[in-house]
Amino acid sequence: MTSNKSVNQGVAPVTYGDGTRPPRGDYASARADYTCDQHWERYTPQEHALYQRLYERQAAQLPGLACEEFIAAVSQLGTPQEIPRFDVLSVRLKQATGWEVVAVPGLIPEEAFFGLLAQRRFPVTAWIRRPEEFDYVVEPDVFHDLFGHVPLLFNPVFADYMQAYGAGGLKASRLQACEHLARLYWYTVEFGLIATPAGLRAYGAGILSSTGELRHSLQSPAPQRLGFDVERIMRTQYRIDSFQGTYFVITGFEQLFEATAPDFTPLYERVAGLGELSADARLASDTVY
Ligand code: PHE
Ligand code: CO
Repeated sequence: MTSNKSVNQGVAPVTYGDGTRPPRGDYASARADYTCDQHWERYTPQEHALYQRLYERQAAQLPGLACEEFIAAVSQLGTPQEIPRFDVLSVRLKQATGWEVVAVPGLIPEEAFFGLLAQRRFPVTAWIRRPEEFDYVVEPDVFHDLFGHVPLLFNPVFADYMQAYGAGGLKASRLQACEHLARLYWYTVEFGLIATPAGLRAYGAGILSSTGELRHSLQSPAPQRLGFDVERIMRTQYRIDSFQGTYFVITGFEQLFEATAPDFTPLYERVAGLGELSADARLASDTVY
């Protein structure tokens, strides 16, 4: 019934930066909360093969560089031979931590993103990059979203942090503090390092889904690695088009959860009054690893 009033009218597409590139995803068939159907049956054999190549290249690099919690959970994604079915993966994830994976057409607005996280629903882009983007893709695709983010959602403490972040995001929107809160996401969920007895390891999805950045973040003398500090992070700009100049190191996922538990309202006010710090700034108060 195409005349039915409930027929999907779609949502506004979301693009990065100046938005000159047309959005890739099919926003016209997304629901009001920006979720859509994965349409697993539409992936081509070439797309499944591309996923497998990405997965296997990245999995081979993890030992000694990724944190143990991540390595232990990667196999929960299922066989590397094909792009996982989100509904099947969600059954395992729900059982472990109460999270589920939902399909989205690509980038979604901040509020929609926060709302899904607050409900323990992790948005994963349905499409996969093109073969010529094997090494680098500008927007997050299904490989980044799944391989980078989903393994740690199997960890109970990290899973709770992600939900708290979503709820905190909804609050930050009301306080007009999203830019400061986004930096926390960037320097933890995307580019976080963790100190372990065996040495520094990566837990951030942007690092773990990138071939070059995994080594850069942990082994290059170029970037600085500083102790985790919420206020410091909220003041610090970040780079979206090159490897990071600074990484922040947590001592455990409990630290992440506990440091972000207090009410951020006074913190947002304080941070707004302090100066911005460049992506490679160094303060006398920084703990250097
Ligand atoms: N405690 C934060 C607040 O009151 C919410 C939050 C939790 C933000 C976890 C980020 C991560 O706003
Ligand atoms: Co990401």
